[in-house]
Amino acid sequence: MSWLIKNASILGGEQQDMLLRDGVITEMGKDLQDGEAEILEAAGLIALPGLVDLHTHLREPGREDAETVRSGSRAAALGGYTAICAMPNTNPIADTAGVVEQVLRLGQETGLVDVQPIGAVTIGQRGEHLAELGTMADSAAQVRIFSDDGHCVADPVLMRRALEYVRAFDGVVAQHAEEPRLTEGAQMNEGEVSSQLGLAGWPAVAEEAIIARDVLLAGHTQSRLHVCHVSTAGSVELIRWGKQKGWQVTAEVCPHHLLLTDEQAHSYDPVFKVNPPLRTAADVQALREGLADGTIDVVATDHAPHAAQDKECEWAQARPGMLGLETALSIVVQTMIETGLLDWAGVAERMSITPARIGGLNGPQRRGAAGGPIAGHGRPLALGEPANLTLIDPAARWTVEAASLASLSRNTPYQGFELPARVSATFLRGNATVLDGKVQL
Ligand code: DOR
Ligand code: ZN
Repeated sequence: MSWLIKNASILGGEQQDMLLRDGVITEMGKDLQDGEAEILEAAGLIALPGLVDLHTHLREPGREDAETVRSGSRAAALGGYTAICAMPNTNPIADTAGVVEQVLRLGQETGLVDVQPIGAVTIGQRGEHLAELGTMADSAAQVRIFSDDGHCVADPVLMRRALEYVRAFDGVVAQHAEEPRLTEGAQMNEGEVSSQLGLAGWPAVAEEAIIARDVLLAGHTQSRLHVCHVSTAGSVELIRWGKQKGWQVTAEVCPHHLLLTDEQAHSYDPVFKVNPPLRTAADVQALREGLADGTIDVVATDHAPHAAQDKECEWAQARPGMLGLETALSIVVQTMIETGLLDWAGVAERMSITPARIGGLNGPQRRGAAGGPIAGHGRPLALGEPANLTLIDPAARWTVEAASLASLSRNTPYQGFELPARVSATFLRGNATVLDGKVQL
């Protein structure tokens, strides 16, 4: 089917019509006509290239009660995403060609978003021996991002070897920066609130010490480091320094770290437990500024679904993590657009164009349903480009209801929050995956 989108504001700017046919933007301009195409009136809506998430936890294989590739894909499409990168901390761990190919296949079968598997850095994410990075890179999944996320690659020799190894295929090591000896037993950010509550603290230095080391290793190896979920003001400074050196360092921030603080822990509600933890208001401000000035390259969700029995329990027993896919764009609008720190083109840069580039998903070709490398994401909305895009209603306001989310889990920290902006439609290769805010499968 082809679609004629009328009067969409491209990146928040000029209104144009777009004709989507055979998966491609085949016409762009004013007052387009087409006898066959389905018409979508988009006056008042903003068109962005489909969002790309570098950090999604799907729980398949292993914990299909918490999330499946299918349920996570639905959540992603509703959030405006056309591609997501699946973290490897599944059961079994995605540390072989077999598991990454399984995740790729599940994503293709669902067909709502492109699911790019991330491979583990070490076997079983145990931090002892390098996994077969080259075999995963050569597999059908064509893995380019490697991460032990959930755990830090703490051994500096292993980290160095991983950085050296991925250079061969222009890969990148995505580090969960947490010095494990400094966070033993840690429950929340170390600071005033943790002392008041008597909960063991996760100090900022545990994150910053690893980032400092890894930025130096990226310089030494001339390889690509990506820092996951940066959460402290000090981390922003270290990344700024690494970039000034000219080293290949990129970084992401999560929506929850742009909005929430450790004050939330006063509720003792484990929905606010996350790793890295919610920090202070000063950290939030530094993260917003770092994202605005380009020190932090992208927003990534760290969408981390957890089943009720793993989350709705005592704080100390609860798993860390929060849902993110369906609320990310709204949180970015609230924290970055409504504050004047970013415009819509800036959001497109940080939620689509740059993450697609970091993940190697921005090739010009358009992958057919049959396979080939995932490509065509984070590209300009222009003639001849793959029709991967999202339409956003910037004037909408909505109230988050955990029970209404597409995720199989309920651990959103935004229950009852009224948020700005809503995804109205999402298109993957010219097919509507979301229409009128409803998923089409
Ligand atoms: O909060 C988190 N949850 N942080 C991580 O690093 C892992 C994630 C998960 O897998 O639940
Ligand atoms: Zn992590």
